[in-house]
Amino acid sequence: MTEAWEPDDDDDQRPRGASGPVRVRVPAKVNLHLGVGPLRRDGYHELNTVYHAISIHDELTARRGDTLALTMEGEGAGALALDDTNLVIRAAHALAAYAGVPAHARLHLRKQIPLAGGLAGGSADAAATLVACDALWGTGLSRDELAGIAAGLGSDVPFLIHGGTALGTGRGEAVSPVLARPTSWYWVVALADGGLSTPAAYAELDRLRAAGAAGPPLGSTDALLAALRQRDPRVLAATLGNDLQDAALAMRPSLAATLKAGEAAGALAGIVSGSGPTCVFLAADAADAERIAAELDAAGVCREARVAHGPVAGARIG
Ligand code: C5P
Repeated sequence: MTEAWEPDDDDDQRPRGASGPVRVRVPAKVNLHLGVGPLRRDGYHELNTVYHAISIHDELTARRGDTLALTMEGEGAGALALDDTNLVIRAAHALAAYAGVPAHARLHLRKQIPLAGGLAGGSADAAATLVACDALWGTGLSRDELAGIAAGLGSDVPFLIHGGTALGTGRGEAVSPVLARPTSWYWVVALADGGLSTPAAYAELDRLRAAGAAGPPLGSTDALLAALRQRDPRVLAATLGNDLQDAALAMRPSLAATLKAGEAAGALAGIVSGSGPTCVFLAADAADAERIAAELDAAGVCREARVAHGPVAGARIG
């Protein structure tokens, strides 16, 4: 097999890349709080958000090759372009350019995170690519350096390098971990048919706000951050919120029935995830989450209901 990149023979200090395949698992994210501020001059909105990584994972395997190639299976296979527009390919090129190595790898993606679902699946795959190619090529960047490259690829990508539960500011790319008790929270994730466009959801929120038809903006994250320091899911449930929810509901009115059905099934709270159309429900415990997911499936108000827990780690090898 052709080697993608080898350090100079006389430079033993330089890291050597992996010779075998590198497999990286990366989680989906939900926003426990998504506060959307005004539209900035650069076309992004100022955010005040709390990200939370949950146990629905994509898996990226990177092998040595003499070109850059991507194949995929699972959620969205066949619907997602595998060319230079794909965030995975863009991530590999961005890392190669930063590190000064050829962008040579054979990448294979196994997707469980839906496309355009509001769970940051594309951003997750970009984060996985950075971690996998860093190991494959032996570029040895720190997590902060990888997060810096990640910020250029998308607002959510740095969080998916880190994972856990974290505060996001700026356009979402400035991430800092939040202090939380080591508690697992149990979620029911209601996947929808088809996706919603993130830029369209933000534009719809601007339109609703200009027309005075949006709800009041979320306040600070203080109550949510305090709830994360306790262990009571009922306290956490009362603090969940998403400013993009009105926009997602305007674009996909059927989501109102999904949210209602989850709460009727005993969820402590339900919100649209990010720009939707996925809805996420907080359950009292793991058994309750299983029961609520079965009820949502039976009610026919979503494509598929899955149980997940969080927080989980970000993009990791293994
Ligand atoms: O950063 P990312 O490429 O994921 O963002 C996709 C789109 O979502 C942006 O082009 C913009 O329209 C919208 N967006 C926004 N404000 C943010 C993040 C995203 O308006 N903070």
